[in-house]
Amino acid sequence: MRIPSFLPAIVAALALSCSSSSTTSPPGGSSGTTSTPRDGGITGDGGVSTEVDLIVLPQAAFTGFDGVHPYKVPISVAGAASDLTLTGDAAFVDIKRATSALTGDEQWFLVAAKKAGKVTLVATSKGKKLEATLTIASYTPAQWTTGETRYKAAGAEPSCASCHSKSDGPDHSPTSLSPIDDESAKLIITTGVKGTIPITSVKHKWTATPDELVGLVTYLRALPPKGITEK
Ligand code: HEC
Repeated sequence: MRIPSFLPAIVAALALSCSSSSTTSPPGGSSGTTSTPRDGGITGDGGVSTEVDLIVLPQAAFTGFDGVHPYKVPISVAGAASDLTLTGDAAFVDIKRATSALTGDEQWFLVAAKKAGKVTLVATSKGKKLEATLTIASYTPAQWTTGETRYKAAGAEPSCASCHSKSDGPDHSPTSLSPIDDESAKLIITTGVKGTIPITSVKHKWTATPDELVGLVTYLRALPPKGITEK
C-alpha cells in the first residue's frame, strides 16, 4: 500500500504514545479514544519509503467457548492491501470479514471460537506475514448463566446493566475486552483498575463471588462486539 509520506510518522507517534497502555487497549480504541496502539513497527528507508508493515491487533487476544453462546473477537489489520487474508486453525476458529465504525484504513475480521485452546492467527498481504495469538478459555453454559444473573442483579450496588446496557454505556464487549485476559478483566470489575489505569468516572469496585466473577467474564465475552459487524 502506498500512502502519503507523513502517515507513517503519525502511526509511529501513536505507537509510542500508546505503548504504555497497549495491554489493555482495545483494537479500535475505547470510548472517547480514537487512537490505537500499534505494536507492529514501521518500515522506512530514511523517510523515502512509505510502506507500512502489517499491524495486527490485538497481538494477544482473548475469548472463550462454552458450546452454546457465540464468542466472537474482533481483529484488525493495518498496513495491508486488498489481498489480505487472516487465517487460523479451522478446528478452533471461524474467521469472517467485518466492518467497523471505529477507525480508518484497518481491515477488520470477526474470529468466532469453535473450541477452547490457543490459536495462532496469521495475517498475510503483499508477501508479508504477521502473527497474533488468540487464547480461547473453556467456559460452561452454567457459568454464563451465573454471570448473566449477577450482571442484571441490583441490590446494595447498582446492576452492571444499569450503566453498561444503556445505549451510550461504556463498552465492555469483546471490542474492548479482546486484549484483556480473564484475571485482568476480573480486577477491572473488583478494583476499577484497567491494567495500571484507574477508572475515575465511577467508583468501579463491585462485589462478586469468585464464581460470579468467572461468570461475568464468560458473559461479557459472549456479548456481540460493539461497533463491529460481519460483512
Ligand atoms: C455506575 C456505573 C457502572 C456500573 C454499575 C458498572 N460499571 Fe463497569 N464501567 C463503568 C465505567 C464508567 C467504566 C469505564 C469506561 C472507560 O473509562 O473506558 C466501566 C468499565 C468496565 C469494564 C472495562 C471495559 C473496558 O474498557 O475494557 C468492565 C469489564 C466492566 N466495567 C464491567 C462491569 C461489571 C461486570 C459490572 C457489574 C458487576 C459493572 N461494570 C458495573 C461504569 C459502571
